[in-house]
Amino acid sequence: MLTVEGLDVAYGDFQVLWGAELRVDEGEIVCVLGPNGAGKSTLMNTISGLVKPRAGRVTFLDQRVDGLPAHRSAGHGLAHVLERRRLFPFLTVLDNVLLGSHNPRARSHRAETLERVEALFPVVRVRRAQLAHTLSGGEQQMVAIARGLMARPRLLMVDEPFLGLAPQVARDIGLLLRRIREEEGISVVFIEQNVEVALRLADRGYVLESGRTILSGPSAELLRSSEVKRIFLGDVAL
Ligand SMILES: Nc1ncnc2c1ncn2[C@@H]1O[C@H](COP(=O)(O)OP(=O)(O)O)[C@@H](O)[C@H]1O
Ligand SMILES: [Mg+2]
Repeated sequence: MLTVEGLDVAYGDFQVLWGAELRVDEGEIVCVLGPNGAGKSTLMNTISGLVKPRAGRVTFLDQRVDGLPAHRSAGHGLAHVLERRRLFPFLTVLDNVLLGSHNPRARSHRAETLERVEALFPVVRVRRAQLAHTLSGGEQQMVAIARGLMARPRLLMVDEPFLGLAPQVARDIGLLLRRIREEEGISVVFIEQNVEVALRLADRGYVLESGRTILSGPSAELLRSSEVKRIFLGDVAL
């Protein structure tokens, strides 16, 4: 469904990604792991067209999408929930959510999609008239994901969905990502820094270190990997 090959990305002279790789198949939940500054957000931002790669290719549903602007990718069925959620703080929950259905393909199904999204995220209905900035962090994350779903994506990309959330809230959001896959048939890619949290939820994972994809595989395999332990837990006493 999504293939990223040999992706090089630089901000000016500062190269951040070096031949990064990623693949997501239909119906999969895939995580991108890696320490702070590894280039995870840059990878996702390049896939969605916010950043242009210097080299490499991004193919989504058999179409080249690298170089397409982000609003076109959304039209192609790719939704991206940015790091730190990025809601409009002084718009209501409902207005924030409806902004997700801006692309022409989604707009004509808006009412029907909203109903499905509200069934998954009751907070969207219950708090519809409330200003976004007055919600808790977990509720804001739910609204941000709900907004992404309004684009009727085939693939949902979420940058650090659990960032700053209490464990119970993070668990709820993890379960919702599962339901999005199970009930809506939408594939999911998410970024996470906690290995256990990420690999419990994902089918497969990719590990980025200093801008390179150094490891990938099924979650169970990565959980056992000494390389993963080295990167995330340090060399000490292994
Ligand atoms: N817009 C930007 N301009 C310049 N450098 C950036 C920009 N965005 C990110 N970087 C740099 O690129 C590197 C990777 O950042 P990022 O992709 O955000 O990593 P991660 O999401 O894994 O923490 C970091 O060194 C960061 O400072
Ligand atoms: Mg990031």
